Amino acid sequence: MSASIAHVAQRAYVSRTTVSHVLSGNRPVSREVADRVRAAMTELQYVPSRAARNLALGSTQTVGLLVPDISNGFFADLAKGVEATCIERGINVLLCNTGWKLEREIFYLETLRSRAVDGVIYASGAPPAASLLGGLLADLPVVAVDEQLPRASITSITSKNRTGGRMVADHLLSLGHGAAVVVGASPTLGSSKQRVAGFQSAWKKGTGLPARVVMGAFNEASGIAAVATLSGAIRAGEITAIFAVNDLCALGVLEGLRQAKVSVPGDCSVVGFDDVMAARHANPSLTTVRQDAVGMGARAASALLDRITERTDDDCHRTALPVNLIVRDSTSTSRSTG
Ligand code: RIB
Repeated sequence: MSASIAHVAQRAYVSRTTVSHVLSGNRPVSREVADRVRAAMTELQYVPSRAARNLALGSTQTVGLLVPDISNGFFADLAKGVEATCIERGINVLLCNTGWKLEREIFYLETLRSRAVDGVIYASGAPPAASLLGGLLADLPVVAVDEQLPRASITSITSKNRTGGRMVADHLLSLGHGAAVVVGASPTLGSSKQRVAGFQSAWKKGTGLPARVVMGAFNEASGIAAVATLSGAIRAGEITAIFAVNDLCALGVLEGLRQAKVSVPGDCSVVGFDDVMAARHANPSLTTVRQDAVGMGARAASALLDRITERTDDDCHRTALPVNLIVRDSTSTSRSTG
């Protein structure tokens, strides 16, 4: 029979609580008592069970990570960053794929609470109302990542999305484009809204007019669908460039243009946002705005773990990481100027 905390306590002439304190290191115990407890553990070959360790530490050494789409390289990289930081600090990660659905986010938050995770890294794909989050996140350390949450007091790590949108417009304007369309825009996601707003502010400055915006989603299907409605105007030379608000959507745009036999960048330039691995390998390779997804995940995990270990309240720190424009083969001078 394997030894329990009770056996160790009996052998060391201390209470079970004292053994727990030695295990967790959370409360001071005299060196003499600690040595006696450790000696008893060795003699009895006591191996703390996970449950005993959790109890002693007052922690499950586990955090939850919610992402909207694990098949999107951006979120896979973000998860890598979270995992690497957590592993270094001996913490397990429970990965929850929410499919951009609010009901799945709620389901997973309830599940994570019931499993007593120490905290949550939350990449929301369907920004819920503040009132919904109130109860679900109460007393639970949370860091929002990629997308802010509608509660003022939650620390967040995001990207400079507005700056990225501006960079795209400036790039297209510098190539002489005067007729661009933004596709895949979401009416609810802050990241998307900021990219569009940044693009429009620079575009209006350059051309005097806002660009047309086609609403959609962060996926390939949305890019393909947008091209189906725009290909006539592209062929007629009324549209010379497309900014898709993320790379998956941009890859769908490339596919739609290929099917419509529109040449890229000859007849239409295309820009994405994220710099997922497929952007590099697309044909033509995709000009895009690079976000540091791995770094974003790592920063979010550090912020959360620091808060958990230091047992501090959220200081509501908002960090927006820099982005870079990566110019590749899918953009060139506009036909009208070239
Ligand atoms: O590719 C998924 C997109 O959703 C990324 O651009 C990320 O920033 C999020 O907003």
